[in-house]
Formats: sequence, C-alpha cells, structure tokens
Amino acid sequence: MLNEAIPFEPAQDLPALAASGALGGNVALFRQARGPDLLRRASALEGWCALREQHGVWPYGRSLEGAPAPLSMVGGEGTPASRGINFASQDYLSLSSHTAVLEAAMAALAACGPHSAGSAVLLGNSPYTNALEAALGELLRCRHVVLFPTGWGAAFGAVTALVHGADHVLIDALAHASLRQGATSATRNVTAFRHLDCDHVRELLASIRAVDAQGAILVLTEGLFSMDADSPDLPLLQYLCHEYGATLLVDVAHDLGALGPGGGGIIGAQGMLGKIDLVMGAFSKTFASNGGFVACNSPSVRRQLQMFAGPHMFSNALSPVQAATVLACLKIVTSPEGETLRAALMRNAVELRALLGAAGMRCIGAPSPIVPLWTGPEAACRIAGMLLGREGVFVNSMEFPGVPLGASRLRLQLMAQHTPGQIRRAAPLLAAAVRTAFDAMTPSAATVDQPGGAAPER
Ligand SMILES: Cc1ncc(COP(=O)(O)O)c(C=O)c1O
Repeated sequence: MLNEAIPFEPAQDLPALAASGALGGNVALFRQARGPDLLRRASALEGWCALREQHGVWPYGRSLEGAPAPLSMVGGEGTPASRGINFASQDYLSLSSHTAVLEAAMAALAACGPHSAGSAVLLGNSPYTNALEAALGELLRCRHVVLFPTGWGAAFGAVTALVHGADHVLIDALAHASLRQGATSATRNVTAFRHLDCDHVRELLASIRAVDAQGAILVLTEGLFSMDADSPDLPLLQYLCHEYGATLLVDVAHDLGALGPGGGGIIGAQGMLGKIDLVMGAFSKTFASNGGFVACNSPSVRRQLQMFAGPHMFSNALSPVQAATVLACLKIVTSPEGETLRAALMRNAVELRALLGAAGMRCIGAPSPIVPLWTGPEAACRIAGMLLGREGVFVNSMEFPGVPLGASRLRLQLMAQHTPGQIRRAAPLLAAAVRTAFDAMTPSAATVDQPGGAAPER
C-alpha cells in the first residue's frame, strides 16, 4: 500500500540533523558578501556549505560514473559512488546510449578529431554543423538556424544581441537564468510577468506601447518550464506580440524532441511550428550533447546574431563530434522510433505522477519528462533528498536559486528507458522520504529564512 509510510532505517539521526543548523539558511543570505577581499569574503558561504556537507544534506557537485542510465553509479562530493535509480540526468529519450548515436559520434571523431578549432564565425563550422542547421530548421520550419556552443550561450547571446538599452524585455517570472541574465545585461527595462499569465503580458505590452512607440519589446518564455513542468499558451502570446509590435522568443530546451508530434515540442503540440518569431533551445537534454541554437525566419536576425551574439562569435563552435551526435539524435527524434521513445517517456511520467498522487504527494505541472515533487520549505527538500540517496534513488533537490525561496521541490527527470518496475519501486520510496522529512522538521526548520524576497536565479 503506497499510502503507508515506509519507515527509513537510518532516520534515527534526523533529530541530530535538525539540531545541527544544516537545515537552516539558504544561498540568498550569502549572495551579497561584503568586504574588499574577493578571495576571502565568501568564507561564510563556505562554512554553511561545509556544515551541510558534514551532515549529508549537500546535494550538489555529484558525479555520474558511466553514461546516464536509469540505473547509475552516483558519487557525492567526497563520498564514494553507489548504485541506484537515476532521476537526476536529463537524457529524456535515452539517446546518449543509442547505438546509432554512438556510431555517429565515433565516426565524426575518427574523421575530424575532437577539436572545434575556431569560432563559428571563423573556421569553426564543419559539414556536421551545416547539416545540423538544415535538419533543425526543417523540424522547426524555420529558414535560419544559428548554433551556439551551449544552450546558456544561445539564450544569453540572442537576448543581448537583439535588445538595446532603449528596448524593453518582458520575461516570465520563472524563466531560466540564461534568459534573465541576458535581459538584465541588455537593458534596464526588464519586467517580469506573472508565470504563464497572458493577461498580465497584454497589460504590460499596452502600458509600454502607450508611452513608447519606438523601442522594441522582446517577450521571453519557455516551452516547458524546467522546474514547474508547465507551458504557456503560445498562440495567444504570439498573437499579443503581433498586436503590440513585440517579438516572442520561446526557449524549448526541455521539450524539443521529447514532446509533441514528430518531436516538435510544445510549439509543435500547439500547432505553432514556423509561427513563433524566435525559437531558442539546448542540445543538453534530449540530444545527448552540449550546445544550443536560435531558429527564426528572419535573415536579418540571423546576421545580427552572427555578428553580435558574444557566445556565437567569441566562443569556439560546436565540435564535429557534438554536431554529429545531435544530428544523429535528430534523425531518431523525427523517426517512428522517436514516437515510440516519446510514448515510453510519457508512460513513465503518467505512471509516476499517478503513483505519487495516490500516495498523497503533490506533483506540480503536467505530464512531461520533468516531474516536480513539491516539498516547500528547504529543510524538507534537504532531508528527503538525503534519505533518497541512502535508499538508492537519485533526484535533484531544487531550492533557491533554482526556484523561489520556500518553493523547494525534488525534480525527477525521466528517461524513456526507465522501466515500469523502476517507477513502481521508486514511487513509495519518494513518498516515504517526503513524508519522513515533514515529520522530522522542527517548526523553525519549516519556516523560510527571507533575505528580502529573492527571486529564482536558475
Ligand atoms: C530552460 C533552459 N534554458 C537554457 C538552458 C541552458 O542550456 P545548457 O545547459 O545546454 O547550456 C537550460 C539548462 O539548464 C534550461 O533549463
């Protein structure tokens, strides 16, 4: 019975953990370290991290042994690796171990070596990057694709290349740090709109246009929000942008390839392929590599990015191995095999959410490769993540700056290759960990240390 808590053997040490102080505090308290000595002024942060590490509630900097797989060997900072069910890797269609992908990567390595020997603007391109641009453009129904060495660089580069100080950016309050940092680097006129709230976008567009007919407006959102597993109404957002002479950019890092008919992501699922002004994405989730892109139908945007997007111009291009890997993934994504893999992934998502829901857990968002299991106060997330690691279930514990303060969650990332047996084994352990964490929390640990309403910074 899932509703019955499974007691964890090692939970006797929880009172000591609660008394240690390792469950209190958050990164935001240390963000603005003061003092002239840059090499030492983060010592309070270092002390707080060390305390958490000492008490087993420091979930960062872990390493994976071998390729990402549903069963993986995972080690912590300074702790030996152990084997468990892996919900912490973003290899949604399990393509990083696909034979065709590995063969393509090895063939590119043999043909071109491991090096990307220049910026894409100079001599960094290869036949693989050229073919990748064409294949991605076909999937997205966009005539122009500009590649970047990382998804982060694609987002930051696109926003900073296109937006000037006299322009405006409207950004979903929960959008990724790469977009947020791009926006604040480009202009002071940045306004966050309420998450997914198109009425708020309309209000803000109208108020900007009432006083500024000349400045450009860029609206930033994501296809599938990486911490919340939800999606905006893209046809409405794009309509509003047209109405007010604004431009829409959608970050499809988490949904392209993993969702939608033909792998077209949320844009495809909402019938908007070829109709979104700017599509930006990353290869680091479904496409078994690093890298990113911006796709559009405007030749002048392509040129503007080529000449002014710093991470495109001033960073070496995707290597031939990376481009060949992504290209091989793209072939699978758009094939009937891609549909089969997406169906397996979705089956896992629906099953895991149903089992957790039946156990009284709260999963936010909609079925997708990302299942955010709500924990709220940071202390609950830390305890639950620690207990799960001991039980051989690896998850990512998300707290500020990845998510707002007091809105922590365990982010479970699914793969097509997770088996129904692994999902059924993990669900009661997940539920029991969260329940045990809430039972163990002292009233003070259950409250949020507020440093002044810090927003997420992921
Ligand atoms: C929504 C979103 N956009 C952009 C990125 C950056 O992508 P990458 O890690 O490939 O640089 C990420 C990765 O975390 C992401 O989640």
